Amino acid sequence: MNDAAAALAEQGGDPGLVPRPFEVVGTRRELDDVVTLELAPLDGQALTFLPGQFTMLYLPGIGEIPISISGDPARPERLVQTIRSVGAVSEACCALQPGARIGVRGPYGRGWPLEAALGRHLIVLAGGLGLAPTRPIVTWALENRSKLAGLHLLYGARTPDAVLYPTQLLGWAGAEAANVMVTVDRHSDQWSGRVGVVSDLVPELPFDPALGTAMVCGPEVMMRFSLQALEGWGMAPAQMYVSMERNMKCGIGWCGHCQLGPHLLCRDGPVLAAPQVSDLIGVWEL
Ligand SMILES: Cc1cc2nc3c(=O)[nH]c(=O)nc-3n(C[C@H](O)[C@H](O)[C@H](O)COP(=O)(O)OP(=O)(O)OC[C@H]3O[C@@H](n4cnc5c(N)ncnc54)[C@H](O)[C@@H]3O)c2cc1C
Ligand code: FES
Repeated sequence: MNDAAAALAEQGGDPGLVPRPFEVVGTRRELDDVVTLELAPLDGQALTFLPGQFTMLYLPGIGEIPISISGDPARPERLVQTIRSVGAVSEACCALQPGARIGVRGPYGRGWPLEAALGRHLIVLAGGLGLAPTRPIVTWALENRSKLAGLHLLYGARTPDAVLYPTQLLGWAGAEAANVMVTVDRHSDQWSGRVGVVSDLVPELPFDPALGTAMVCGPEVMMRFSLQALEGWGMAPAQMYVSMERNMKCGIGWCGHCQLGPHLLCRDGPVLAAPQVSDLIGVWEL
């Protein structure tokens, strides 16, 4: 517990709300507007997390935002987060350089139910930046490959230039442990791969849908079509999970900003089973 957290706790406050100081120890530009930060805790305490959980990143004087953890759950001594610059706080996060300090709260939320995939074919269906919150699933699955019947990563990006983690995708595709399919919505001359939306890849999966468990993350329209495609292919909705995003402020179920129907996504999610959101995911701007 740092000094501020200890002082707050003494006054009966919640030390969980005080950001812990981290230092930027590495940055990597992934795309024109996307940067991955590697952060080390200044108090030396590793931030252990479950794939699918998020943190609140805090820059004093600018603001605080929820960002999923995209690193390796087996290497919690380094906190890895991939951020798209879309506004004030994310832009400032993307501009951080090694040596800079940042506040971190969390990890928060319910992660992917990895145990639901044991003994089954695990399908990771990701769109765009949705590969960031799902990358820890793939890392975990590769380390626990013998516990799964199969591992299938279906990834879609808008254009070839927008493919996230291309080197890692190539590495996974080259390893026999995983079946990796990548598609883009719009191709260029340099692209010789698949073209089309990622949900179109579902019927090509080479096993009985009853044997699969799917974890889906991306823009809501992509998740909606992916759930429909999985169900149309024959998978039971109870075997499908999605990660839902809404504006978040407290991250711990206090403020109500992240409400989606009966769910507070920071506390009950962000990962929910498809039947929990099937009536909600199709409602525009809910
Ligand atoms: C659980 C969770 C995990 C997330 N993980 C990541 C991640 O790994 N990487 C990443 O880049 N972003 C992630 N986001 C989205 C990120 O939190 C927002 O992009 C960020 O809060 C924008 O803040 P800002 O101050 O930079 O921009 P703002 O000025 O607040 O917003 C800029 C634009 O982004 C929109 N926006 C704000 N929040 C969201 C949101 N949650 N979803 C969609 N649009 C939003 C706003 O409506 C506005 O149009 C996550 C969000 C949640 C809830
Ligand atoms: S962000 Fe405050 S209740 Fe979820």
